[in-house]
Amino acid sequence: MNQSAFKDSGELHVAIIMDGNGRWATARGLPRTAGHAQGAVAVRQIVEAAPALGIRTLSLYAFSSDNWRRPTAEVRALLHLFARHLRSEAPTLAAHDVRLSVIGARHRLPPSLVAAIAGAERRTAGGRALDLRIAIDYSARDAIVRAAARLAPGEAGRVAFTRRLAEAYGADGAPDVDLVVRTGGERRLSDFLLWECAYAELYFTPRAWPDFDAGDLAAAVADFRGRTRRFGGIAAGSPN
Ligand code: IPE
Ligand code: IPE
Ligand code: MG
Repeated sequence: MNQSAFKDSGELHVAIIMDGNGRWATARGLPRTAGHAQGAVAVRQIVEAAPALGIRTLSLYAFSSDNWRRPTAEVRALLHLFARHLRSEAPTLAAHDVRLSVIGARHRLPPSLVAAIAGAERRTAGGRALDLRIAIDYSARDAIVRAAARLAPGEAGRVAFTRRLAEAYGADGAPDVDLVVRTGGERRLSDFLLWECAYAELYFTPRAWPDFDAGDLAAAVADFRGRTRRFGGIAAGSPN
């Protein structure tokens, strides 16, 4: 079966590891938190550009469960930034037909952020143009462990597991990831969507996240569209 035929219709799931904020700021003599603030501005541009590029689902890695290891002041600044932007952006997202949901564990988040998340999710629930998933306190390995624990006795198979996985991080299911983009120059997944990325194409760019713009996203998608996905089979049209 040629699974890539469906993908050519343009319904992509793109996952972005938004990295390089701290180095972007440090290189400019600014505090790391200034890089995070500028990174939040970049998010808006990328979300606006996504639907026209054929992206139907966009998963953005904002805060990993390992990011709690950072200095308290940086963590607090990040969580505050998330709450502020969720509140300020929700009306615009709703107006652009974007449905926002947050994936990850919520029990460690401050109540004000949990309330901002719930408010933004409620306000954008009707969005159909783009499924925007923001990963906060997210760990793919934790999600996989929780999903396994949720499997009912006798429940087995990938379909059941994938459903439990979505439940485990508190969002509706999403299709497998087609393309992972990581900014900031590192070439690793850092515990993001490990199950969903089984056949994802990987795209790494040295560009720091605060500098990543709509043109960069278009370049990443164009690169993706030039690749041949085989899913273990052989390319369409290959000689026998
Ligand atoms: C990504 O940028 C944002 C988060 C992880 C919250 P970093 O803060 O990791 O930036 P670098 O990698 O230190 O430059
Ligand atoms: C991954 O970036 C997490 C986010 C972008 C939110 P990190 O900067 O935390 O990843 P490592 O530590 O370099 O792997
Ligand atoms: Mg980093």
